[in-house]
Amino acid sequence: MAQTTKVLITGVTGFIGSNLLDYLIEKTDWKIVGVDNCSTGNRLNIEHHIDNPRFEFLLISVKEIKSLKEFSKVFHLAALPRIQPSFEFINEHVEANLNQAIHLLELMIRENHYPRLVYSGSSAIYGTPTIIPTPETEKIDCLSPYAFQKYEVEKYLELIATRYPLDYMTVRYFNPYGPRSFNPLNSFNAYSSVVGIFLNRKKNGQKLLVTGDGSQKRDFIHVQDLAKANYMASIHPEKLNTAFNVGFGSTLSILDLAKLIAGDAYEFIDKREGEADITFADTTKTKKVLGWNPTVEIATYIKEELSKIHA
Ligand SMILES: NC(=O)c1ccc[n+]([C@@H]2O[C@H](COP(=O)([O-])OP(=O)(O)OC[C@H]3O[C@@H](n4cnc5c(N)ncnc54)[C@H](O)[C@@H]3O)[C@@H](O)[C@H]2O)c1
Repeated sequence: MAQTTKVLITGVTGFIGSNLLDYLIEKTDWKIVGVDNCSTGNRLNIEHHIDNPRFEFLLISVKEIKSLKEFSKVFHLAALPRIQPSFEFINEHVEANLNQAIHLLELMIRENHYPRLVYSGSSAIYGTPTIIPTPETEKIDCLSPYAFQKYEVEKYLELIATRYPLDYMTVRYFNPYGPRSFNPLNSFNAYSSVVGIFLNRKKNGQKLLVTGDGSQKRDFIHVQDLAKANYMASIHPEKLNTAFNVGFGSTLSILDLAKLIAGDAYEFIDKREGEADITFADTTKTKKVLGWNPTVEIATYIKEELSKIHA
């Protein structure tokens, strides 16, 4: 009898990790171990799976994982993905965004066991890109310590793969949004997805705060589409050791997003340095190689969320 696939998700109580867990529970018969130290994640995000015999949750840091031998796939999402705080709490972000990933690589080398690693990368590594829409071959231009740490992991993967038989895929997310993107308990939540922040302010009857003049454009991608990209990268039959853009392939300005959610109930605040003017994914490679296509339109999602607020 074929053995059940067993996989690891790091950062499982976070926004994207918990949505990936939902997706894998629904779409596969895999056994899933989820690890999170709950530094910014919320255990409530996975509570609905806690009694599922296919799922096991470990409240530990990635660095406390002792072995990867039982896993054939590892989804590494654990991180502190906040651009502005990464300028101030530098060591904490190096520890979360770089060193945890390196621990996984060292375990693979030590155990001579190379599960398919699907690494959550970021479009932040393109900075303000010169090619629009931006392909994976765009130059790297890190505007923040966070972006640099996400890139460092990619570079380590590339370097270590020259000596050891790593099997990895990086999925570079553009601007994720969707359920659980806004965690009210997270003290860094001012830096979470703007869609979640805006919807939360709208719900509380507050004016939306638009940074700069709001002309900066973002390629918003629903978390369900990100989960699907993770899954497809994990089942691709070949070992490719490469990166894939995961965005919708269209843009919306922050001002237009604010108007969509709140009409004219918004005001402007100071521009934040270290953030890109535009993100816009060229997803040709992802569609062609992984057979992935985005399915959720941001306008549809917002309409649904607004109808819940008004209900
Ligand atoms: N949300 C975005 O805008 C975005 C954009 C591009 C890439 N990403 C990447 O996607 C991944 C998931 O991001 P998210 O938005 O779900 O963030 P999140 O903050 O909601 O989730 C990250 C999770 O990692 C956990 N974590 C942090 N350090 C840990 C450690 N040492 N050990 C175990 N767990 C730890 C946190 O508690 C949290 O639950 C990250 O790697 C991030 O860099 C996110």
